[in-house]
Amino acid sequence: MPGALGIDLGSSSTRIFEKRKGIVLREPTVLAVDRENGRMIAIGSQAEQMLGRTPGSISALKPVKGGVISDYEMCREMLTAYIKKVCAHRLAKPEVIFGVPACITQLEERALLDVGCAAGARKVFLVESVLAAAIGAGIDFAKPEGKVVLDIGGGSCDLGILSLGGIVESESIKIGGESFDEGLIRYLRKNRGILIGKRIAEEIKIEIGCILPRPEEKKICVQGRDLKGSYLADCEITSSETALAFEESGARIIETIHSVLEKTPPELLADVSQSGITLTGGGSLLWGLDEYIHRHIGIKVSIADDCSSCVAFGLGKLAESLQNMQPGAIHLERKKLLLHLS
Ligand SMILES: Nc1ncnc2c1ncn2[C@@H]1O[C@H](COP(=O)(O)OP(=O)(O)OP(=O)(O)O)[C@@H](O)[C@H]1O
Ligand SMILES: [Mg+2]
Repeated sequence: MPGALGIDLGSSSTRIFEKRKGIVLREPTVLAVDRENGRMIAIGSQAEQMLGRTPGSISALKPVKGGVISDYEMCREMLTAYIKKVCAHRLAKPEVIFGVPACITQLEERALLDVGCAAGARKVFLVESVLAAAIGAGIDFAKPEGKVVLDIGGGSCDLGILSLGGIVESESIKIGGESFDEGLIRYLRKNRGILIGKRIAEEIKIEIGCILPRPEEKKICVQGRDLKGSYLADCEITSSETALAFEESGARIIETIHSVLEKTPPELLADVSQSGITLTGGGSLLWGLDEYIHRHIGIKVSIADDCSSCVAFGLGKLAESLQNMQPGAIHLERKKLLLHLS
């Protein structure tokens, strides 16, 4: 029987982990369709190039937002193509396990189960992304000792306090790397009178962006639309300006950590201040974010190795023992099982 697939269906990227092979697909969660007949024209990186550049007849879109499906039909199309790509050599349909935000609603859960089956899965299993992230980051949370994982993706932030193989407290907010990009777009429109697109905003963030002052100021020159003249204008942006632009999203992340820690039992809180917070997800690569969280929360913070792939690695590990899990919506039994895996 061919191995099950672990699918991290992220707002920014989709990663598929196949048993014995590792990550076999890593593509942007984007597709482009012909508006007239609904036919898919491109997916993944090819479709990503089209974002914001399509003529009226084509629409390029992201079918997952804030960690959950926002466009059912488009998500099914994209996932069908991705599963087909990695299962081209198989005769039987694969079993699939997806990571989901800890506070996913029943409706959102149902949509993912349906999409998984419609896209070619034989059985669909769900698990909280934050648990998968912890397993993928190699965190041992089987003992009665509190561990904190914060997964910062493109569209969402998932925080979990883990102990005894399960989640004690969790929170999920729709703030992620894309919120930093949007903050930068708003800042430049308001303070510099230029309008830039989302892709350029992301490039600036990755190239020179920071949430705490860098030891050496960095600069980048970009082109945007001049809001006064409506023509293109050159604009030099400094890393300190990005820190101002990112303040609002940074503050939301800090608020969320505080709100979860306030609900955490004192015994676990003591463990957590010892073991620290582990960051996973591509969003945690924002320059200075680990130190920023450390300064505001007062607990040491570290970034997991290969942080963007932790959820996929964890799902891959879980995919190896699906025989002990129940397919469908998340059950308590499943959490117990994790005790044996971590
Ligand atoms: N070097 C970097 N500096 C800052 N941000 C980065 C860097 N590399 C990647 N990112 C950001 O990480 C985000 C994507 O992270 P990730 O791939 O973990 O998201 P995702 O799993 O697709 O989304 P989600 O988990 O929210 O559904 C993007 O917003 C991207 O801009
Ligand atoms: Mg993610």
